[in-house]
Amino acid sequence: MKRIGIITSGGDCGGLNAVVKGAALMAHKLGITAYVIPNGYAGLYNLLDFSADELVALKPERADFIDASLAGSEAGHSRVKIKKIEDPNKYERIKAGLKKFQIEGLVISGGDDTGSVMVDLTEHGINCVHAPKTMDLDLQTYSVGGDSAINRISTFAQDLKTTGRTHNRIMVVEVFGRYAGHTAFRGGIAADADAILIPEIPTDFDVLYQHCKSRYFDRIFNSDVKAGTYLIIVAEGIKDASGRELVDESAGTDAFGHKKLAGAGKYVCQELTKRFKADPEIPELMKKARLYVPGIYEIPEVRDVRPGHLVRSGRSSAYDVNFGKEVGGAAVLLLKQGITGVTVVGVYGKEIRYIPTSEAIKQRHVDLDQVAFHEQQGVCFGRKTPDYEATFTKVTGKIDRYM
Ligand code: F6P
Repeated sequence: MKRIGIITSGGDCGGLNAVVKGAALMAHKLGITAYVIPNGYAGLYNLLDFSADELVALKPERADFIDASLAGSEAGHSRVKIKKIEDPNKYERIKAGLKKFQIEGLVISGGDDTGSVMVDLTEHGINCVHAPKTMDLDLQTYSVGGDSAINRISTFAQDLKTTGRTHNRIMVVEVFGRYAGHTAFRGGIAADADAILIPEIPTDFDVLYQHCKSRYFDRIFNSDVKAGTYLIIVAEGIKDASGRELVDESAGTDAFGHKKLAGAGKYVCQELTKRFKADPEIPELMKKARLYVPGIYEIPEVRDVRPGHLVRSGRSSAYDVNFGKEVGGAAVLLLKQGITGVTVVGVYGKEIRYIPTSEAIKQRHVDLDQVAFHEQQGVCFGRKTPDYEATFTKVTGKIDRYM
């Protein structure tokens, strides 16, 4: 194997440049030249039309220009499902492009959509290895981008408490994650959020309201300067108690064909505001908080913020840079070994662990027992707090940890 291509695809996130750099440097060590196939599968489909001087070889001196700690990807992204391309000769066209540049294998970094296309390409005889990436964290393996997104969500949410407390506002932060609540859950816990709403638990707005009302006013009553806020992290893909998705249906679909998710945070604001208006106890509580101004300020204000793409931009976490360099490099080792159609799990010393990509892309949801643990500590997940009965296990032998 003398030449390989590197593709990054799907939604970008932290750690991707580390994957690209890790793959390029490992390839160089093995005497392989790694080329950037730009802009995801759009670039792969159009590879045939590239001229030789358009294709960038990531030799060490070029890879040196890649800042592994920057989020986003030097290789660029698109959301293209090869199967959906109308061209009946699409696979032949892709193979001809690869042949033109004598590219014998591909390192592909992406999430479940990217992985499903990778499975398709493998079935069409193209050698690929998948380096797991998605800020949604919904693959079976850990995926680069998750830790960076969690850190950013946590930082933004904590920062919002200053303005929330100053204005005595309830702050609702809607975050990316599609139909898995991992980043909302972990980012929310890290930010000391009062409530976290995730797609795995249909939201009971009456439960949320009671928790919010009691904690918000207690905070103000306990403050000598009558200041209080209440922080809610909302995953974009939440549902209400009847199982209805709370999205703005006018947002349309992305190029891959998925519904764009937006509007859940706004919906939460409306549901809480509606209940504050209808609750006969609120005027008295507002008076006791010395906030009540007739006709002007009769109920607490609920505001929503949507950091959107900011949660996957900027700088990557140190964890993602480490993981990214390892899975990028490991993907090249697997390709060289002739092991394809697989996803890297991680590098454990001299052991490279991998699983079939068709397995890796099966969607993983938040573990509700883990949620129940945090509910015991007072965090509201929009449902009545369940019992939590712990079991105890004494671990014998090697503890299998990643870092
Ligand atoms: O899948 C990653 C993700 O960040 C989702 O959490 C989010 O819904 C989506 O991508 C947004 O995608 P785009 O950047 O295409 O709008």
